[in-house]
Amino acid sequence: MINRRQHLLALAAATTLAAGTAQAQSDTVKVGVILPMTGPSASTGRQIDAAIKLWMAQSGGKAGGKKVEVIVKDDAGVADTTRRLAQELVVNDKVVALAGFGLTPLALATAPIATQSKTPMVVMAAATSAITEASPFILRTSFTLPQAAVGIAEWAPKNGIKKVVSLVTDYGPGNDAEKYFTERFILNGGTVMEKLRTPLRGADFAPVLQKVRDAKPDALFVFLPSGQGAQFMKQFGERGLDKAGIRLIATGDVTDDDQLNDMGDVALGVVNSHHYSAAHPSAANKKFVADFQAANKFRPNFMAVGGYDGIRLIFRGLDTTKGAGGEALLNAMKGQIFESPRGQILIDAQSREIVQDIYIRKVERKDGQLWNIEFDVQKAVKDPGKLK
Ligand code: PHB
Repeated sequence: MINRRQHLLALAAATTLAAGTAQAQSDTVKVGVILPMTGPSASTGRQIDAAIKLWMAQSGGKAGGKKVEVIVKDDAGVADTTRRLAQELVVNDKVVALAGFGLTPLALATAPIATQSKTPMVVMAAATSAITEASPFILRTSFTLPQAAVGIAEWAPKNGIKKVVSLVTDYGPGNDAEKYFTERFILNGGTVMEKLRTPLRGADFAPVLQKVRDAKPDALFVFLPSGQGAQFMKQFGERGLDKAGIRLIATGDVTDDDQLNDMGDVALGVVNSHHYSAAHPSAANKKFVADFQAANKFRPNFMAVGGYDGIRLIFRGLDTTKGAGGEALLNAMKGQIFESPRGQILIDAQSREIVQDIYIRKVERKDGQLWNIEFDVQKAVKDPGKLK
């Protein structure tokens, strides 16, 4: 006769088997998306959520013969909340993939859960280079700051900018932007006069802008996370830095399409480098922007495109695995190539990192609106943060 312990084990095994079969046979698979829908980074959540809804409407919400249910959770930009929500989505909802992640600390807090539960995790927004190294289950459809910052560091010294001050937000992506911009700028013969930082929360730019005025560089290089650009631009203008002949160069996070149109004349002429502009002149992007604006009454920014491509990546993976998750889904997403609204992208199979074109753009007024107009491109840029 079997003892009680063996009986319990057999019961547990049977239950697991039944649950597994139910999941395999179910005609619905779930994807868990965690975003800052409230708090200081709410614009990132709003953009990505809208892009995912657009994809769901366009695709009919089916992949691999299954209905895909997207569960969106709000972490308000708080890392402990992101981690708890990820745990709940994996354990209770049995999601086949986790996605979203509006800020670097939120992605890093979730990485151990992806690893332990073998759940693929698609980073749609956060952009510190090291994120994809935090778990073998992480793939990225946003960008990295080294990718974005090197473009403007190449352009500036060839265009009369020899002395700069740099200004970044004091956390992961800011460290990357400062490091990769200044290294490349110095390599190209430039001088970095000062490296300034502002805090992630509650940044007031007045004190640092006064320092920049006093230093009188040819240009100020800036990285700030999406959502802070308009406030910065306003203070840059109010302090008269543009009138004092100090040029502004940046990563495209600062001239973010979410806010650009409200920034006014002070933004005109700002040269910056990034992977996506709503003005990108391809047929695929024109359709994306038109469909997005028809559904939302606001312009998509680079966060929206990270979300749109991220959900498409998950759908394509599910098409291959016929709806299965875990390592099969991870492997099915590696090496994908497709045409994004930003241009062609590749998810490098080895690094799970995005390879994409980086554009040099200038803010111009066209048909009464402000846009980042692309005038040069670096093709198929791999993350410089992984090349050492
Ligand atoms: C990040 O926290 O990784 C982040 C957020 C917003 C950006 C770029 C990077 O625009």
